[in-house]
Amino acid sequence: MTPDNFAILIVDDEPNIRSGLEKGLAKEAELIDTATDAEQGLIKFRETAYSLVIADVRLPSVMNGLEMIEQMLRTRPQTTAIVITAHGTVETAVEAMRLGAFDFITKPLDLELIREQVRKARRHYRLRLENRELRDRLADAGEVSGIIANCSIMRDVIQQIRQVAETDATVMIQGESGTGKELVARALHELSDRRDKPFVAVNLGALPETLLESELFGHEKGSFTGATRRKPGCFEQAEGGTLFLDEITEIPAKCQVDLLRVLESGHYSRVGGEEILTSDVRLISATNKNVQNEIDEGTFREDLYYRLNIIPIQIPPLRLRRDDVPLLIEHFLNHFCQRYNRDPKTITTEGMQKLVSARWPGNVRQLRNMIERLVVTVNGPTIRAEDIILEQDGTKTKPAQSAPSTLADAVEKAERETITAALIACEYHREQTARMLGVSVRTLHYKMNRYGLH
Ligand SMILES: Nc1ncnc2c1ncn2[C@@H]1O[C@H](COP(=O)(O)OP(=O)(O)OP(=O)(O)O)[C@@H](O)[C@H]1O
Ligand SMILES: [Mg+2]
Repeated sequence: MTPDNFAILIVDDEPNIRSGLEKGLAKEAELIDTATDAEQGLIKFRETAYSLVIADVRLPSVMNGLEMIEQMLRTRPQTTAIVITAHGTVETAVEAMRLGAFDFITKPLDLELIREQVRKARRHYRLRLENRELRDRLADAGEVSGIIANCSIMRDVIQQIRQVAETDATVMIQGESGTGKELVARALHELSDRRDKPFVAVNLGALPETLLESELFGHEKGSFTGATRRKPGCFEQAEGGTLFLDEITEIPAKCQVDLLRVLESGHYSRVGGEEILTSDVRLISATNKNVQNEIDEGTFREDLYYRLNIIPIQIPPLRLRRDDVPLLIEHFLNHFCQRYNRDPKTITTEGMQKLVSARWPGNVRQLRNMIERLVVTVNGPTIRAEDIILEQDGTKTKPAQSAPSTLADAVEKAERETITAALIACEYHREQTARMLGVSVRTLHYKMNRYGLH
């Protein structure tokens, strides 16, 4: 049955009720059938995909109306069911709704009311079908919670996300800058039972050490100069939900200890506070650094790493999943054409080849920025290869006039080139560039000044 074609099956042993409903609902459906007991009802149900089944709870068959409906919904969950009960047995009706019935009506029947209920059921049925179609379409396109994924590695990642989302396990997401770590963290939250509770993201690299502790755990009024009132920290804000700790390796040593303690005990206190708070958050962390290196260098605690890395999710860089590029391009083209009110655009085969074979050091974010710019700057419906200017590999940076003579010179040269390439890749977006290079924005500024890279 299509959403525009509504078919009703009425199952009741009383002829008056059958005929009364059949006549009374004639205008509400394209097809109405009747059955006198559960067995007959099930046989008819097998032959026709009814949109709505209206059934008396008490039927003169081995099977009662509830059992019949349960069986019907098992074979065809999108069917909507309404049960009829005698006055005073509303508990049965409630039981029916628990089994998946949509609504109930009580005897004696009030036809006007029933018509209204049927119309409501029809709207509901239609919505359900449409949602289902949409979900199927998205699933076909390989999209889960806004994550476009086509290639087999990413499909595995999606599979892992689905499995892990249901649990409360701590997840650490690793991947280069722009690969979609935050997107994955949000998907984990949206697919979990915590979806109705908050998702709180905090970038540990963006906060000065002095503020970090209060940011995470909150503070009491007067706990330090400027603390004019009690402030809940990220843990408190995310209570019952998910806390996303981005750039986890940036967290200073002192805070690593605090965090480890919360992870181990499940308790924490606000800065300057006595009260012991219990945390119920699902923790997800992310980094674009090689954590093992950080551990080897002694900047990241190994015990904290093990606590955080219960379930590791590794997101591959875009250059290792080129199959995804065309799908991502299509997705971003649609998105930005809509956002900027442009007519739909297509990319020539050569243009597509150019985009697919690019190195994308800034990964999906860079591709997204590129498509956004193309949508805005290219007039007309076709994007050609000439429109696409890729400079991200840093190949266009000028070679040094002469070979460096000292080690310091060589390091400077390499640093300068790397920063230049990253700046170009991120279209001179400072924060992105810093993130990509794994340094603070302040460090980036300093180096840019030093090398005159503005
Ligand atoms: N698979 C994907 N499908 C659709 N959009 C994606 C995908 N991966 C990334 N994006 C988009 O690319 C951009 C960057 O993603 P995100 O911010 O999640 O990356 P990140 O790994 O957290 O980067 P960083 O390390 O720099 O913080 C976002 O706009 C995101 O929506
Ligand atoms: Mg991020």
